[in-house]
Amino acid sequence: MLNFGRTRNQPRSTRSMPFGGLDYADPKRKGNFVGKILLAATLTALCIIMLKQSPSFNVPSKFSQHEEGVVHVLVTGGAGYIGSHAAFRLLKDSYRVTIVDNLSRGNLGAVKILQELFPEPGRLQFIYADLGDAKAVNKIFSENAFDAVIHFAAVAYVGESTLDPLKYYHNITSNTLVVLESMAAHGVKTLIYSSTCATYGEPEKMPITEDTPQVSAKFLVDCSPYLLQCVPINPYGKAKKMAEDIILDFSKNSDMAVMILRYFNVIGSDPEGRLGEAPRPELRDHGRISGACFDAARGIIPGLKVKGTDYNTPDGTCVRDYIDVNDLVDAHVKALEKAQPKKVGIYNVGTGKGRSVNEFVEACKKATRAKIKVNFEPRRPGDYAEVYSDPTKIRRELNWTARYTDLQESLSIAWRWQKAHHNGYLSSS
Ligand SMILES: NC(=O)c1ccc[n+]([C@@H]2O[C@H](COP(=O)([O-])OP(=O)(O)OC[C@H]3O[C@@H](n4cnc5c(N)ncnc54)[C@H](O)[C@@H]3O)[C@@H](O)[C@H]2O)c1
Repeated sequence: MLNFGRTRNQPRSTRSMPFGGLDYADPKRKGNFVGKILLAATLTALCIIMLKQSPSFNVPSKFSQHEEGVVHVLVTGGAGYIGSHAAFRLLKDSYRVTIVDNLSRGNLGAVKILQELFPEPGRLQFIYADLGDAKAVNKIFSENAFDAVIHFAAVAYVGESTLDPLKYYHNITSNTLVVLESMAAHGVKTLIYSSTCATYGEPEKMPITEDTPQVSAKFLVDCSPYLLQCVPINPYGKAKKMAEDIILDFSKNSDMAVMILRYFNVIGSDPEGRLGEAPRPELRDHGRISGACFDAARGIIPGLKVKGTDYNTPDGTCVRDYIDVNDLVDAHVKALEKAQPKKVGIYNVGTGKGRSVNEFVEACKKATRAKIKVNFEPRRPGDYAEVYSDPTKIRRELNWTARYTDLQESLSIAWRWQKAHHNGYLSSS
């Protein structure tokens, strides 16, 4: 056994000193010093050998091995709004979860909360990486044994996509290709893909079914010789549609199980207040209606702007289908459970009920109990009058129905989190 006590028992004068006490040319001391360095090096080497021989050292991480009865899901974009709620639900349902996120839009705070809730080894790991880096993604796949991928990671603002379309094609379309190639190379056989109702453009007929053409009928008449232009109107929708097409083409000659979920407008947050929606402040201008409602209630913005009151809708304002994030993640879990090799399922995830912007504003006022100033302005180019889903297919095939359909209730829950987190995940006051 190593005698660690020996140096301690030496007289005080020969004990090693702080570095300042060793700068004299005392040959005895120098020899002693060199000896101690050698001893330290030997001890370090011995420790490494002992550690390597200890049973726990060589045990591979739980994430790197498939385990009977455990489904390991890679959640891309799991630090984001929907991804963090989905990771939470998967962890509660005993899935093993790896989150990959570059934190460009998401919040490390959300991941930390999940880590605190599920600290046991093999439950949750976070990997900081950019999905545009094919080498890094491939390495992640080679070091981890995934059973399935839920691909949420994306930039996701319609307005921003019209200003910076290349960012959208790169981040959404090309990164999906990177993920898919890694899945194929490493034999990961189940993919759940986050798509959007924006892929439908502006359909002539409501509600939107999965068979509604992903082209604008209006545009089709105008541009039939140039079919490439007859795809969904904004670059965000187009980038998602292209990603869908890549997945569908790949799946034709593969045994992959694929589910494509096209979400409508997502609102709400965890009813127990652990997670919420915390977009980057600089993205406020491009933001979504629920974010604008809370910002107006907090006085961060002067009020709400309702753009367009002369649409052909019951009260003249746009109509949308608001889906609660808790229902949405439930749809993902059902999709994961029902995914079949060599099969593709495409599903709308919405409530089936359209609500006008006016209705939303009233629900927001009641949920926040704030005096919110509302300005009515002209229409915004590119906005569609009505968008709402027909959820028959997902109900029939996945046995999924939206349960959180009370707009005010969903907004009240989200508002509670917002009120307690003035700076998003950076604060809780
Ligand atoms: N929120 C909605 O209303 C809505 C509606 C339809 C579809 N969707 C889709 O749902 C998904 C999630 O949206 P969200 O609202 O949670 O957005 P979000 O911005 O909150 O989350 C996206 C996450 O992806 C990460 N990310 C982005 N690019 C990345 C990259 N290159 N590498 C690694 N991580 C990256 C971000 O950091 C962020 O954490 C997106 O695919 C979006 O298109 C959202």
